[in-house]
Amino acid sequence: MILILLGAPGAGKGTQAQRLQDKHGLVQLSTGDMLRAAVAEGTEIGLKAKSVMDRGELVSDDIMTGIISARLDQSDCKNGAILDGFPRTEAQAEALDSMLTEKNLSLDAVIEMKTDDEVLVERVTGRYTCANCGAGYHDSFLKPAKEGVCDKCGGTEFTRRSDDTAETVKSRLQAYHNQTAPLLPYYRGKGILKQVDGMAEIDEVTRQIEALLN
Ligand code: AP5
Ligand code: MG
Ligand code: ZN
Repeated sequence: MILILLGAPGAGKGTQAQRLQDKHGLVQLSTGDMLRAAVAEGTEIGLKAKSVMDRGELVSDDIMTGIISARLDQSDCKNGAILDGFPRTEAQAEALDSMLTEKNLSLDAVIEMKTDDEVLVERVTGRYTCANCGAGYHDSFLKPAKEGVCDKCGGTEFTRRSDDTAETVKSRLQAYHNQTAPLLPYYRGKGILKQVDGMAEIDEVTRQIEALLN
């Protein structure tokens, strides 16, 4: 099964993709996480991507399409994948269509996580992640059971993203509305677009996604 989670920055794509991964054995393919890993490793792609990401703009379609195509070929994706953050432009969506055909895979559903822009700055600026296992948390909306200790792995170190400032979120939102939102009619036209209420509480959003998949 190949699923796309489509939504604005802070809509909850990563949060829900982690849950789908844990529950259904699908692999979360977050292009943002892949780019951040490349930046941390100092690879050529990472060096190119860093300043673009910190401005809240989009990395080039060629780079992103190449990364996803190579990733889908890895053996852990054979049970299926959740695309979190890809595609983000019409060119990427078209490239995805041809790559799936080539790989003999089909796109099962595109789930739009609908949110109002007003809540997104608070979501993004309050976000933090376990440095050891990558589990995501929020200062107000998703705290670990024991403060300062990751629920999943017991880790005690956490990181925040350098692009999670109120300023950068505004450009990321603009990029979403200008370049990514046009994918909604694109997938609606193919009859595979579904929607969940991204404004609901995290567990409720999970329930809505599960209901769509059943
Ligand atoms: P990426 O990492 O994909 O960032 P994004 O799209 O801006 O999305 P976020 O990760 O910020 O939000 P999310 O929807 O995952 O929210 P989360 O679940 O964490 O991309 C970063 C950059 O990389 C881009 O700007 C671009 O430069 C580049 N890039 C990546 N892919 C690219 C591509 N394909 N093409 C070109 N460039 C690309 O939730 C946020 C917080 O809110 C969390 O703390 C969470 O706990 C909380 N939360 C989640 N759901 C709820 C809820 N329902 N209620 C309350 N709180 C909630
Ligand atoms: Mg994310
Ligand atoms: Zn952890």
